[in-house]
Formats: sequence, structure tokens, C-alpha cells
Amino acid sequence: VPASLAEFLRGLVSRGMAGCNITLPHKEAALHLLDEVDDLAVAVGAVNTVVVKNKKTIGTNTDVAGFYENVKPHLSQTKKAVMLGAGGAARGVAVALSQLGFSHIVITNRTREKAEAIAKDQALDVVAWEHRADALKDADLLVNTTSLGLAGQPPLALDLSLLPQQAIVADIVYKPLITPLLAQAESRGHKTVDGLGMLLHQAAPGFCAWFGVMPEVTDELRGFILSA
Ligand code: ATR
Repeated sequence: VPASLAEFLRGLVSRGMAGCNITLPHKEAALHLLDEVDDLAVAVGAVNTVVVKNKKTIGTNTDVAGFYENVKPHLSQTKKAVMLGAGGAARGVAVALSQLGFSHIVITNRTREKAEAIAKDQALDVVAWEHRADALKDADLLVNTTSLGLAGQPPLALDLSLLPQQAIVADIVYKPLITPLLAQAESRGHKTVDGLGMLLHQAAPGFCAWFGVMPEVTDELRGFILSA
């Protein structure tokens, strides 16, 4: 943990700040550096939003709501979801999948132990990384939470042939906006959900907590961010 992070977070109150967002790689460390953290942030194991209230720093997690709001409008079936990855973003996605009503959530990760640690806390089924393509059978939603496909990283290698035609494919990576996984899914006719919507939707509740106004995530806002 950089000493400056603790110092920065302590200084929010004395500097009269309303709060801040916390991004990689500080989301986990921040859990232990604030006056309070809410139950959701503890369950997710990460803080992405800090709000100053009554001269105290309070940590929460809006990534869960961000993923939820981004995916919810596209869903019709919520029986089976498959999530790839068990790193920093995966716990929040698992919580959101359960809030979305998925009755069967499968997690697969290159390092199996990390998937098992999340599965133990959140009642997920673990499938071996080598068998990830088989896990797609009967899935309604496939989500990539790994860093594969991110600019500068290798693409995610995944055979989608068992994924049902009506299944939705989501990626939390938004650089590039159309990851190789989303391009592959689109070419097979799947509906896809990119990661930019999650970024916008996680920002809205933080903005509301700081400034008392809930921004709407509109096509216009999305277009503005894309052009910027
Ligand atoms: P961390 O795991 O340190 O929290 P992260 O960036 O939040 O880092 O997560 C990276 C995710 O992408 C992990 O699920 C990681 O798998 P491991 O847990 O096995 O490391 C996954 N990932 C990164 N590179 C990968 C690769 N080449 N093949 C498969 N999975 C990969």
C-alpha cells in the first residue's frame, strides 16, 4: 500500500472534499484505510467509491450496481450465467449476477483456487479453465471479467460453439470497446454488452452521494464520453 494512499484518504475530510472514486490497483487496500465501509464493500472485498459524511470517510462499492444496470435491460432469461475470471472485478460481478436473479452461476478461472475462494463465499459452481467452452452449454449470459482482451493483453481464446444463440455476451473490459470476445460473439449473432456502460453506471450513484443529483446514463452521455 503506498503511504500516499492512506494520507490522501485521510486528507479528504480536512480538505473539505465530498469524496472520491478509487480505481485499480487500490480498491482492495482502501477497505482498510477508511473510517467505515458498508456491508456491500466488505462482501465484494473492494471499495470504488468514498463518500465524506459527518467528517468521516465511508467506503462503498458501486461497481455492482454498475454491472447490474448495464446488463439488466438486455436480459430476458436468468437461469444460467458463466463468468470467466476470479480477479479484482469478479466478486462484484458475482454479487450482481445473483442480484439479477441468476439461479445457476458458474465461475471458471486459470488459477482454480481463486475461483474456489469466491465460490465458497457466494455459492457458485467452479468449472476447470480447460473446460470453459463446455460450461457455455445452456448459458443465458457469458461475462468476461479477466484482463484478456484488454489493449496490450492477449485476446481471450474461447470456443463459443456451445453457447445458445439467444445468450448475451458481456465484457467488463472497455478498452477497446469491442473486445475480440465481443467481436467473435457479434459475428455469431449474439447480443453483446460492452464495458463502457458499466463505467458510466458505476459513476452515477457516487455522483449522487457527493452532489445530491442522480445523473441519467443516456445515449448522449455515452456519445460524449466516446468522443472525449
Ligand atoms: P488479480 O488477479 O491480481 O486481482 P486482475 O487483473 O484483477 O488481477 O485479474 C486478472 C484476471 O484475469 C484473473 O482472473 C486472471 O487469472 P488468474 O487468476 O489465473 O491470474 C485472468 N488472466 C489474466 N491473464 C490471463 C491469461 N493469460 N490466461 C487466463 N487468465 C488470465
